[in-house]
Amino acid sequence: MIRPVAHIGAMAAYALADLTAPEGKLLISLSQNESLRGPSPAVTQAIHRAAETPHLYPDPDWTGVRRALGDVHGIDPAQIICGNGSLDLIGAIARAYLDQTTRALVPAHAYPFFRTATQMTGAQLTAVPERDLTVDVEALLTAQTSETRVVFVANPGNPTGTRIPRSDLLRLRAGLRDDVLLVIDEAYGEFADHLNEPMFDQVASGNTVVLRTMSKAYGLAGMRVGWGYFPSGIAAEVRKLLNPNNVALAGQLAAEAAVQDQTYMRDTCQMTMQIRDAFASRIRQMGLDVPDSFTNFTLIRFTTPELAQHADAWLKAEGIFLRPQSGAGLPDCLRATIGQAKDMDFTADVLSDWCQQKRISS
Ligand SMILES: Cc1ncc(COP(=O)(O)O)c(C=O)c1O
Repeated sequence: MIRPVAHIGAMAAYALADLTAPEGKLLISLSQNESLRGPSPAVTQAIHRAAETPHLYPDPDWTGVRRALGDVHGIDPAQIICGNGSLDLIGAIARAYLDQTTRALVPAHAYPFFRTATQMTGAQLTAVPERDLTVDVEALLTAQTSETRVVFVANPGNPTGTRIPRSDLLRLRAGLRDDVLLVIDEAYGEFADHLNEPMFDQVASGNTVVLRTMSKAYGLAGMRVGWGYFPSGIAAEVRKLLNPNNVALAGQLAAEAAVQDQTYMRDTCQMTMQIRDAFASRIRQMGLDVPDSFTNFTLIRFTTPELAQHADAWLKAEGIFLRPQSGAGLPDCLRATIGQAKDMDFTADVLSDWCQQKRISS
């Protein structure tokens, strides 16, 4: 029998979204934190341009994307690395800095891929308790040991949607040993940029990486483009682990065009936040718990895991797919991506029916 290496054999496969609508129902997918609308119209033209030269390899240095990002964020394009989605970068960082003798730290309700990426390397993982579904910096610092090599923190967080301020991240960095890499995953950073707390300057410390993605606010999830701002030495190590030509031509041209249309992206964020806040307030009026979100989704907390499962099945019967959160240690929660206003209204109507039926039957 052919056996995989022991730590890979022991891993569970990454849990993907279930998207099979019941017969006769239209699928309303609110489960993958995709954008509520497509990208800037300039992106469509860029993708058409990619169709002219599909026989040629793409730019291995992502020059156009890096230049556009450097201009918009006022950062050095030479320190930007692009990935086939930011998942590509998270995996490469884990492989470069973790092995079977080391340990990564994550907040208890962190994005589950941090665990997967850590497991791929055979390293151990410590999940550190959060406070009110929010990253607890003191608890992370207390959990640091001599084995700790990497700390992964998504800010804003997924699936919590909550956020810690820049001052907390600075305290975290200051309290970590210099040989511990801090990875700040800002996949939803564009939805919090109006708070004006960018973290890119921290990369100069030499042991902090900031990741972002084109998949959320820019509406390019299907193009698979993520990026990160890295200290030069870390960038060199991570690049060794990425497949050469990791971002296809269409993805590169699409990302460059999307970044150059900041007005469109900001409008998407505004639109999303308005619909999100209206949806959250309707759900709260039903007596369900919804933490304040700084992202394009909201977390809905039920009183028990059984009620969350029951509500999930009730919504699915109407074709509405939210994302259960057992994988992030929150079996009593469902996460709802913010879609079009009419879909969110329908989702709130169906949940309201569920609440009434529960009240009558209990
Ligand atoms: C916190 C976080 N990081 C990374 C990713 C991966 O994004 P990408 O599509 O860039 O691989 C996601 C996607 O949901 C996410 O929520």
